Amino acid sequence: SAAEQPPWDEGPFQPEAVTVRVPAKINLSLSVGPLRPDGYHELVTVFHAVSLYDEVIARSARGISLSVEPLRRDSDVEQVPADERNLAWQAAALLAEQCGVEPNVRLTIRKDIPVAGGMAGGSADAAATLVACDSLWGTGLRRDELHDLAAQLGSDVPFALHGGTAIGTGRGEHISPVLAATGLEWVIAVLDAGLSTPKIFEACDNQRRRNKVEAPSPSVHPDLMAALRSRDTAAIGRALYNDLQPASIEVLPEIGELLELGRAAGACGSLVSGSGPTTVFLVDGPLAAANVEAELRTSGRCRAVRRARGPVPGANIVNVR
Ligand code: C5P
Repeated sequence: SAAEQPPWDEGPFQPEAVTVRVPAKINLSLSVGPLRPDGYHELVTVFHAVSLYDEVIARSARGISLSVEPLRRDSDVEQVPADERNLAWQAAALLAEQCGVEPNVRLTIRKDIPVAGGMAGGSADAAATLVACDSLWGTGLRRDELHDLAAQLGSDVPFALHGGTAIGTGRGEHISPVLAATGLEWVIAVLDAGLSTPKIFEACDNQRRRNKVEAPSPSVHPDLMAALRSRDTAAIGRALYNDLQPASIEVLPEIGELLELGRAAGACGSLVSGSGPTTVFLVDGPLAAANVEAELRTSGRCRAVRRARGPVPGANIVNVR
């Protein structure tokens, strides 16, 4: 009888549910080159994973289904589609197709990463879904195979698997790790408005056209790399830059005012994250952090102000049952 069977005869362990935690990213630098024939911009960026997380739970089920809920009471989940438009859904479908398994999973996304904020929350959920379904279905892909699927899903998805601090090239999907300062402290201000990534890239192209500036060949500024190696927070703060920042400020001038406010309150660096509208402030020590946080909160312009540290690891399994 089953009760007498030794445990090693039970066959492979089939989990019922797998939970993966995945961080948000910011870009310490974002250098945007020319528009490519495929509609993407050639870029070089320094990705940095910070301690704001989403969780994705994958449970065995029939077919794909998806629900989205807030991870904390004040996390916001409005505007997040709960169907095949969600990149996490597409991630599950892609993995199943590539591995020749049935796409049977019930996905629950527990969100805390700001939505449409330029922190790659949707990409993070897709990366987490790949890791969770790979474990749930026992497909056992190698890291580089997961990376290839991630790149097919979106430019920011491979980094969400990877985490840490890393240079992204191509359209952002080629990742190489950077040995960099650890324990950086950030204050993150989330504006009420969302910005569309394609629109901001387009606004950047338009600004360049108006100003008769050629799109440069993208690069990482050597000052930033030196500062990251030296662990000199003030130098890192000075070296942060983002080619999309003027475009985001043009579309949403409040962004410029918030950046000023945070610097005046003692941040050693500030910039727009990705295509915005989230702004991030590097702070040196708890006093500056508290001061910047308080100023941003009392400005009344932010939907949320959060503290985070970086770098942190990428998508990670935190529970299997
Ligand atoms: O790759 P992903 O789907 O996240 O990109 C969303 C949009 O952002 C693209 O369709 C494109 O308009 C813009 N984009 C770009 N250049 C990149 C990355 C994204 O123009 N390197």
